[in-house]
Amino acid sequence: MTKPRHFITLLDLSSDEFRTLIKRAMQLKTERNVDYQPLKGKVLAMIFEKSSTRTRISFEVAMAHFGGSALFLSPRDTQLGRGEPLEDSARVISSMVDGIMLRTNLHQTVTTFAEHSRVPVINGLTDIYHPCQLLADMQTYFELRGDIAGKTVAWIGDGNNMCHTYIQAAMVLDFKLHIACPQNYTPDTAIVAAAGNRISFFDTPNAAAKNADLIVTDVWASMGQEEEQNLRAGAFKTYQITQMTMQAANNDALFMHCLPAHRGEEASAEVIDGLQSVIFQEAENRLHAQKALLELLLCPNYVKMNANTVL
Ligand code: CP
Ligand code: NVA
Repeated sequence: MTKPRHFITLLDLSSDEFRTLIKRAMQLKTERNVDYQPLKGKVLAMIFEKSSTRTRISFEVAMAHFGGSALFLSPRDTQLGRGEPLEDSARVISSMVDGIMLRTNLHQTVTTFAEHSRVPVINGLTDIYHPCQLLADMQTYFELRGDIAGKTVAWIGDGNNMCHTYIQAAMVLDFKLHIACPQNYTPDTAIVAAAGNRISFFDTPNAAAKNADLIVTDVWASMGQEEEQNLRAGAFKTYQITQMTMQAANNDALFMHCLPAHRGEEASAEVIDGLQSVIFQEAENRLHAQKALLELLLCPNYVKMNANTVL
């Protein structure tokens, strides 16, 4: 059996593939044709160990628009929650569906699934990475400002799964990443080291924002860290993105956040709802970017054949 192609981190894409995927997502967004159903009869299993609004809806709608369907599976209602080995679950589920998307606590759950799956596995967020979100973020940047190569992005806040994924995006798309995180909340050193001199660390949000074309942040406490909320609120209080932070950046800098957001915590309401914020375009692009991803993984020949046709 040939190994299927998975999407576990952004490093699974070459820079050409990432750019092609963004262009394709933009085309799918602007030229929607309801008769274009490249995944007719195909099924995507979606396993969620954690909550989701955007990821669930965007994958489910993408499959429906493409003529296929999606199954929502939670460990609570499947044998996964009762200890059936991941290896067995991956073999069984992948024998009946055409693709599997997982949102899990441990990153290793997704990699183990991928190892034992005979169909493509997509990472819908783990404790370490959130690659699908970056497809949408980068599509949004390309739509509004063009190619991000050589630009500067500032990540301000927790060195979490989103921060790690921005580090990998900087590697694949070749932009500079400024990072400002409170002490003890810095990103994984091995992930940082792999990105080389594209990454620089700063002591304050304003210093990181200087010369930035895009400012990005995320919640102080990610899913599964709810009990640390108070502790983190103390550590992160000087890391809130305010109008002052936006003013320290370039005049045409954009503000992004993967959502859900907490106004008055990681960013002020003024910034989240301000003129530089593109959070809702970013959220909508989850749908379009993931359609392009599903094409790439689930119907690669079909895409090649139709690369130049109007949708
Ligand atoms: N940004 C994101 O992944 O949102 P959900 O948690 O709602 O899927
Ligand atoms: N860092 C956040 C992202 C949510 C989309 C979390 O993991 O909860």
